[in-house]
Amino acid sequence: MSKVIGIIAGSLRKESFSKKIGRVVQGMAPEGFEFSIIPLDDLPIYNQDFDDHHEVPPSYVTFRETIRALDGVIFITPEYNRSVPGVLKNALDVASRPYGKSAWTGKPAAIFSNSPGNLSGFGANHHLRQSLVFLNMPAMAQPEVYMHSISKDFDEAGNMINEGTRDFLKKAVDAFITFYQKNA
Ligand code: FNR
Repeated sequence: MSKVIGIIAGSLRKESFSKKIGRVVQGMAPEGFEFSIIPLDDLPIYNQDFDDHHEVPPSYVTFRETIRALDGVIFITPEYNRSVPGVLKNALDVASRPYGKSAWTGKPAAIFSNSPGNLSGFGANHHLRQSLVFLNMPAMAQPEVYMHSISKDFDEAGNMINEGTRDFLKKAVDAFITFYQKNA
């Protein structure tokens, strides 16, 4: 049976570059792997009362089950104010609870950060890395995946037009598969 790697983009935006990168990455799954895009659109902001008072939103139940069923995760994050966008942090929080029942535990992960600017989401990349340590998710250290000037890599229709970026992504995906096999 194929191993299932979740692709989680930290943006809700329809024309999100992170989502576009996610779709390119999805097409790079090697034999024996399925890359599955996990949307974050339906997750209300985490409120511990939901869990403490048995009022868990149905979308949380579905999301937690979806994450639990994954074998690994590729996070594709933009940067908001030098950190992880709230929507992605919220997703981490939702599936990390209730206490002691985190759905993330032990799943190998990769972090691909991006920005239309020059700094490539460095701050978001490393803030996310910090959360993954606590969530007990081994995160690929090398290659680091920083993608700058990302808006130039796609045409109007959302196709990746920079072959250098595509090759860079393919090498990162291949490295992650090797990392996954050592850490699963
Ligand atoms: C941004 N943006 C941004 N970019 C960056 O490189 N560093 C940053 O700290 C920020 N901060 C920031 C805050 C907020 C609230 C917004 C809305 C945007 C710009 C951001 O990189 C750009 O909007 C991306 O296109 C967002 O990613 P998606 O939606 O294209 O995946």
